Amino acid sequence: MGHLLFLLLWGLQKVWGSSDVLQRAFPFHILQISSFPNSSHARTDFLAWLGELQTHRWRNESDTVQFLKPWSMGRFSQQQVKQLQQEFLIYRFSVFNDVQKFSKLFKLTYPIDLQVFIGCEVQPGKDTESFFNVALQGIYILSFRGTSWKPVPDVSPSVDVVVQEFNKDQGTRAMMQVLMNYTCPQLLHGIIEAGKSDLEKQVKPEAWLSSGPSPGPGRLLLVCRVSGFYPKPVWVKWMRGEQEQPAQQGDILPNADETWHLRVTMDVESREAAGLSCRVKHSSLGGQDIILYWGGSRISWMWIWALVVLGCVLIVGIACFRRPIWMWLKRHCSYEDIP
Ligand SMILES: *[C@@H]1O[C@H](CO)[C@@H](O)[C@H](O)[C@H]1NC(C)=O
Repeated sequence: MGHLLFLLLWGLQKVWGSSDVLQRAFPFHILQISSFPNSSHARTDFLAWLGELQTHRWRNESDTVQFLKPWSMGRFSQQQVKQLQQEFLIYRFSVFNDVQKFSKLFKLTYPIDLQVFIGCEVQPGKDTESFFNVALQGIYILSFRGTSWKPVPDVSPSVDVVVQEFNKDQGTRAMMQVLMNYTCPQLLHGIIEAGKSDLEKQVKPEAWLSSGPSPGPGRLLLVCRVSGFYPKPVWVKWMRGEQEQPAQQGDILPNADETWHLRVTMDVESREAAGLSCRVKHSSLGGQDIILYWGGSRISWMWIWALVVLGCVLIVGIACFRRPIWMWLKRHCSYEDIP
């Protein structure tokens, strides 16, 4: 009995341990961008991300997918990767053919832009959800759901014709179901497992203050910049004591090294700037918020410099005058001490 319980606990611990990474949702997204400048030219590029990290790239000029991380293959074998690549080549070719065919049918005007957003996502405690959405000239027109193609509600009636046409192709529909029900989730689980340490890395932000262009006479634009952090969620506020101040938060933008940066600015009366601080909370800081005081740090540096200079003056003074002072004391005291 004890043994069984032990085994059970050990098993549960293994399950919990291995699903640690799924405390956060890691969506796997593939973006396909196909552009047709005229009836004879076309290019198709693919980009793929797992969460915030780019994992794959496939340029039009190449016949092979580029794996951007050591773990981008997930748990797939070389053979499986080769086969997938073959299917993607066929897919790329059929996109070209379909667009040629439907552009004639519906008299679409060049340039034509086609974007396909493909992906799957595991939410903690839920099944994997896959999606395949198609946009033409920047507008979503159709998607693949369950077992067939569906038009987006309220889209132009010509899309219905395309959808009906697509749905006649049983082979592609079967392939799409395999892709969405099995391939994507399998790849997702594999790369989450293989890339766990990269996905869960914590990179600390650096923060600094500066002033931006003055918003008006007697006013200051205080800028708090926070950069180099991963993962993306971050909390940056201008504060007076424990009070949050109204401020403008920019977008969280990517750095080239897969970290992020953010700028939060505050427009204040110059005389009210003293005592304001910028406070940064991030998972990598382990509860030790970064707090930068406006003006405060400059004053403290001034004091440090003043102390250093004073210290030097004292040391030099003592070194130079010690002898004369000693001699002066000796001369005056020694004579008077004699009775
Ligand atoms: C794929 O999943 C859908 C439900 O989302 C289901 O209707 C369909 O039968 C599945 N297809 C295969 C081949 O498993």
